[in-house]
Amino acid sequence: MKVIVTGGAGFIGSHLTRALVEKGYDVHVIDNLSNGKKINLDPEAKLHQIDLRDFSKLKPVFSNAKFVFHLAALPRVQPSIQDPRNTNDHNVNATLNVLLASRDAGVKRVVYSASSSAYGNQKKLPLRENMEARPLSPYGLQKYIGELYCKLFSDIYGLETISLRYFNVYGPGAPTEGAYAMMMARFLIQRKNSEPLTIVPDGKQSRAFTHVRDVVRANILAAKSAKVGSGEVINIAGKKNHTVLEIADMIGGPKVFIEPRLEPKHSLADLSKAKKLLGWEPKISLEEGIAELRKLHGIS
Ligand SMILES: NC(=O)c1ccc[n+]([C@@H]2O[C@H](COP(=O)([O-])OP(=O)(O)OC[C@H]3O[C@@H](n4cnc5c(N)ncnc54)[C@H](O)[C@@H]3O)[C@@H](O)[C@H]2O)c1
Repeated sequence: MKVIVTGGAGFIGSHLTRALVEKGYDVHVIDNLSNGKKINLDPEAKLHQIDLRDFSKLKPVFSNAKFVFHLAALPRVQPSIQDPRNTNDHNVNATLNVLLASRDAGVKRVVYSASSSAYGNQKKLPLRENMEARPLSPYGLQKYIGELYCKLFSDIYGLETISLRYFNVYGPGAPTEGAYAMMMARFLIQRKNSEPLTIVPDGKQSRAFTHVRDVVRANILAAKSAKVGSGEVINIAGKKNHTVLEIADMIGGPKVFIEPRLEPKHSLADLSKAKKLLGWEPKISLEEGIAELRKLHGIS
């Protein structure tokens, strides 16, 4: 069975690609390799080095595909503040192209990687899918627009879609360097290099860290569940939230405190919809996930 993973050479996409190959799917990856790397890719997957902004190139790849997992994006807040038009092209226009190509090719279902950044700051926790979206950055808004497009395509064209809102994904292979480095991956490298961990701004903000293999499982359930396909939005998150200081303590070593960023203070997800509609719950606790990463990075 042919499936497409956009952004399959990236952090989450490469884990998903591997899992789909292991399950025997004929996996086609579309990635322009702007942030993804060929080396991440399972050798059994077929790479189409295409930019999703170029609609004319998509048709032949989408032909006969049953499921499309749409992960490609420029997925960071800061670049979207610096150049919102460029990130809009990758995050919104490219998503529209994926939906159009899926509709035209008769794809069964599109599973869209959405983001908890759609919530922004909310008065109450846990974050529930029916809360009003209040994105704080162009990135958050662009990911939210993708959800709305998915729902609209289900409503008006009958294309099955589902949006999974991930909360801070971590795990092996997360980018460790440069502007795209994620907090946990950066901490591990700093610890390994005996440098202090850089905490922004006081480390008291909390996040529902989600292991990448739990995210992969959610994607596969989302493609198959008979209970979804009408543009549902579903939280995919770790069970508990942890402060940045707690994470730093689990990794160990000295800390330094740096300038604040535009980000919500706390996040914690209500997971009842994921359980009800997908039969999904996170399986990997943060303690287990970090222990695995410490081992991988040779931190005793
Ligand atoms: N990592 C997280 O914590 C997190 C949290 C919430 C949501 N998400 C979403 O999950 C998805 C995957 O995130 P990730 O962390 O694996 O990011 P990533 O940057 O590692 O992967 C994205 C991939 O998309 C590719 N890409 C970007 N623009 C493209 C284009 N126009 N055409 C073709 N390929 C293009 C990049 O080369 C890269 O390989 C994104 O949609 C992101 O918004 C991630």
